[in-house]
Amino acid sequence: MRFATLTVSMVEHISPAKSLSGSVVLPGDKSISHRYGMLASLADGTSKIRNYSTGADCQSTLACMRSMGIPIESGEETLIHGKGLGGLSAPAEMLDAGNSGSTIRMLSGILAAQPFVSRIGGDESLSRRPMQRIMTPLAEMGARIEARDGKFPPLTITGGPLRPIEYTLPVASAQVKTCVLFAGLSAPGRTSVVESVRTRDHSELALREFGVDISHTGHVISVEGPAHLKPLELYVPGDLSSAAFFLVAAQVVSESDLVIQGVGLNPTRSGLLDFLVGMGCNIQVLDVQQTNGELIGSLRVRKSRVRGGRIDGALAASVIDEIPVLAVLGAVSEDGLSVHDAAELRVKETDRIATIAENFKRMGLSIDVRPDGFDVPGRQQFHAAELNSFGDHRIAMAFSIAALAADGPCVMEDASAASVSFPGFFATLQRIAA
Ligand code: S3P
Repeated sequence: MRFATLTVSMVEHISPAKSLSGSVVLPGDKSISHRYGMLASLADGTSKIRNYSTGADCQSTLACMRSMGIPIESGEETLIHGKGLGGLSAPAEMLDAGNSGSTIRMLSGILAAQPFVSRIGGDESLSRRPMQRIMTPLAEMGARIEARDGKFPPLTITGGPLRPIEYTLPVASAQVKTCVLFAGLSAPGRTSVVESVRTRDHSELALREFGVDISHTGHVISVEGPAHLKPLELYVPGDLSSAAFFLVAAQVVSESDLVIQGVGLNPTRSGLLDFLVGMGCNIQVLDVQQTNGELIGSLRVRKSRVRGGRIDGALAASVIDEIPVLAVLGAVSEDGLSVHDAAELRVKETDRIATIAENFKRMGLSIDVRPDGFDVPGRQQFHAAELNSFGDHRIAMAFSIAALAADGPCVMEDASAASVSFPGFFATLQRIAA
């Protein structure tokens, strides 16, 4: 098995917890931050973004936009001085997407329309992730893209005038959908994406906020180009995928009562909550509001009796990022968890089916692995172990939550990977655990 390794390594020691209590504030949603960062750069003027994700992935997006001449001030608020759809300048060096699949895939749609050649790559993990899924539609639109071995980063993108297309997604991927829609902003006419499985719609909501002519009818999403984007004041809700670690933590620790503040509750993401409630988790949604087209609310979660569950079909696509921590929940549940139709897990930051199985083995837990998922029996005893993130943020956090239920202290190697989406994760865990 090959796993990613990070150059900056950090070890965290995690002790078993008896109780979890208090309030949790999450970083801004990763998916929404990327989109706001890119679109604000293409807007005609200055956008002000509050609660932009502090995670390394979203900072990679800002760094790429800065490298193309967009002035960005990061502080309490993120100020992005957009220069319009044609305002980017050729980067002097290769753009660095770091660990971020969203950055490379979504930004490629923008790069494909530029009157310059650009190169974009990232770390070792990103360099192993498939890019044909964006290369195919962008080539159809008229862009020239070269990749390592024809499919891996770094990409060399020779941009230019694009033609609009109608593209049916062969894999359920919001990144690919977004890539094509972002390219369509510059193509004269109507660019459409057809998706048979609904994926997160943050791009559609953001594009509408920025004033783009966008329609969504049935399975077809279309944008009219060339577009003009207006600058905005935006607020990024807390990241539901980060909330998932604490929703599960409250089920693995015997006395738990947490409030998670200001979380994004977009219906294309909140299948997670329906699934958890269906398993028996006691979750209350408080103070729901809308901001920039996105739903936001707080979640109160308490320890409950958790039955088993099955994830397949469209649900698998909608909770794909939460599956590592749901695997942990499956092992403490009464009837276990069965995951199907989730082969995409194999091409995430790590092969997550393999990295989940490896950490299960280290904790003495059983799991049966299949090419597209796994079965985890319930009512298992978690044993103290040396765990490893293998450089994957969600594996670092999922198994740190598992460690709270172990029969002794655990070690998490390469724990710093968590900062890709949640730099304050371990400090938060320490603050709420007793
Ligand atoms: C994302 C889409 C999903 C998800 C990723 C973020 C997005 O990836 O796993 O973490 O922001 O659009 P895919 O598009 O590959 O399914």
